[in-house]
Amino acid sequence: MVLKLRIVPDPVLRKMADPVKAVDREVSRFMHEMLETMYKSAGVGLAAPQVGELKRVIVVDVAEEQNAAQAFMMADPEITWRSEELFTYREGCLSIPGQYAEVTRPKRIRLHYTDVNNKRIEMEAEDLLSTCIQHEIDHLNSVLFVDYVSKLKRDMMLKRVEKSQRMATEDEQKLGGKSL
Ligand code: NI
Repeated sequence: MVLKLRIVPDPVLRKMADPVKAVDREVSRFMHEMLETMYKSAGVGLAAPQVGELKRVIVVDVAEEQNAAQAFMMADPEITWRSEELFTYREGCLSIPGQYAEVTRPKRIRLHYTDVNNKRIEMEAEDLLSTCIQHEIDHLNSVLFVDYVSKLKRDMMLKRVEKSQRMATEDEQKLGGKSL
């Protein structure tokens, strides 16, 4: 099942997500639905609040080809170490469609997470994978990538999204003839 994506300024994107504690069948099914939703939207990462669930769950796959076997599905991810060396990447977000900005973050991180089989895993990530994991963990803490740019630029980006969403809704109403 493909889940519905939440777009700014949806208030759920500004709320803290709660720990999952154990990955049971329900959480595991949710992880697979998130992965399916991410692939369908051509994203490389997705966090649970982006589909309206305040759970500490993220999915990430930065590989060229979509392959669920190599994707990361993480519950309760926790960064335990960040390199001093930095990495800059032009980030976007499925909840802020069409907007991009360069964000600088630690180049390498070490983290713990609970996998889809409820096993606690430790791993290291660098470059794009590291950036993506940090971006998704930010979502769990109510932080969006636009928080790293100036207020002026952030307001402009968010206003652009609101405008395009409004126009899309109006088009839909006209075409669908739903508004009577
Ligand atoms: Ni995002």
